[in-house]
Amino acid sequence: MKVLVIGGGGREHAIVWKLAQSKRVDKIYCCPGNAGIAELAECIDISPTDFGALLNIVRYEWIDLTIVGPEDPLSKGIADVFRKEGRHIFGPGAEAARLEASKAFSKDFMRRYGIPTGEYKVFNSYIHAEDYVRLKGAPIVIKADGLAAGKGVFVAKTVEEASDALRLIMKERAFGSAGDRVVVEECIEGEEASFMAFTDGNTIVPMVSSQDHKRIFDGDGGPNTGGMGAYSPAPVMTPELEKQVMEKVMQPFLRGIKAERMDFRGVIYAGLMIKENKPYVLEFNCRFGDPETQPVLARLDSDLFEIILAVSEGKLAEVPVKWKPESAVCVVMASKGYPGSYEKGKIIKGLQKAKGMKNVVVFHAGTGFNDDEVVTSGGRVLGVTATGADVAEAREKAYDAVRLISFEGMQFRKDIASRAIGRKEAQ
Ligand code: GLY
Repeated sequence: MKVLVIGGGGREHAIVWKLAQSKRVDKIYCCPGNAGIAELAECIDISPTDFGALLNIVRYEWIDLTIVGPEDPLSKGIADVFRKEGRHIFGPGAEAARLEASKAFSKDFMRRYGIPTGEYKVFNSYIHAEDYVRLKGAPIVIKADGLAAGKGVFVAKTVEEASDALRLIMKERAFGSAGDRVVVEECIEGEEASFMAFTDGNTIVPMVSSQDHKRIFDGDGGPNTGGMGAYSPAPVMTPELEKQVMEKVMQPFLRGIKAERMDFRGVIYAGLMIKENKPYVLEFNCRFGDPETQPVLARLDSDLFEIILAVSEGKLAEVPVKWKPESAVCVVMASKGYPGSYEKGKIIKGLQKAKGMKNVVVFHAGTGFNDDEVVTSGGRVLGVTATGADVAEAREKAYDAVRLISFEGMQFRKDIASRAIGRKEAQ
């Protein structure tokens, strides 16, 4: 079988890496891909939102299945376009992808189906939103309604910070039309966790839990990023909590998409806040998380291709989804300046040495080639991922590999997964 993966980050490298292990996959294509993906797939420089060009590749190369990594093409309707052409594709249609693309739509959906989430109100007027913030007080959460590459959410500690966020989103239009509306939401304090599940719209199968590190600096300091590292499992997600998430979040989600006849064949990812042993949904994403996918797929024992094909054909109930007992940790190495502006083209050294380590995979994110040399080409550059008997062992190995790699201006957090280890030691 021939498979096309759309995207070019660490998540897509992890997907390609896992697909390459399938006996049923003969060839993988990736648009646009990156320097690491190029070792496993034919990379073609087509934008993930150029649906016409992507469909042409699928037609001319006789590709059997397309897998969509990022949210942007999903929200613009790539799955609808491909399905109309009779093509197998993994990812929800545009209507269902609004669960990620519109925070207001998503919160209203949660309310309709009784999914636990913070109290909220939606505003399209700055004045009314500000009045509401003053009425409610701080801490309070301000969210731009539309897609903002993970940068449109502000947890305001004071009313002034909340007003600043409203001004930035609605008056200065920092996120363009994504800021036409805002969601002003109760701030629920607790521990965050990521919970992803495969669904074909009839069956829902959970993945193992994970935890992201969204801030740029150690100790969760500095601005939000796309994610600076992740690990799996997340100890906060006890078996009892996983059961609650399935009953209170995932099953109502499935009821909702069925009732509203949404075409959802892909991954539903709930960003959760765990407070007093209860899950609250902060947001839904309609795709694999990045970087959570790197440690999660490192633990997948079953054939990812079989699962994804079954999802796209509505036959998820027929395939096994099994996980390895090991833990996995992914440390993101980023360019200097990220999540702000950064330079590209820095030569990356030590990749071969790190790749040679047992139980280590170096997933590429923002990398490219300059002649024969691998160079940086994005904010998040690499996701160095290791597995081990427990999180402590996986973490040690991941950092051993990180120490072998260097590029000018590199930055990475030194405390990825330390909370999980601290929690275990405290037990
Ligand atoms: N790790 C956060 C996300 O994928 O949205």
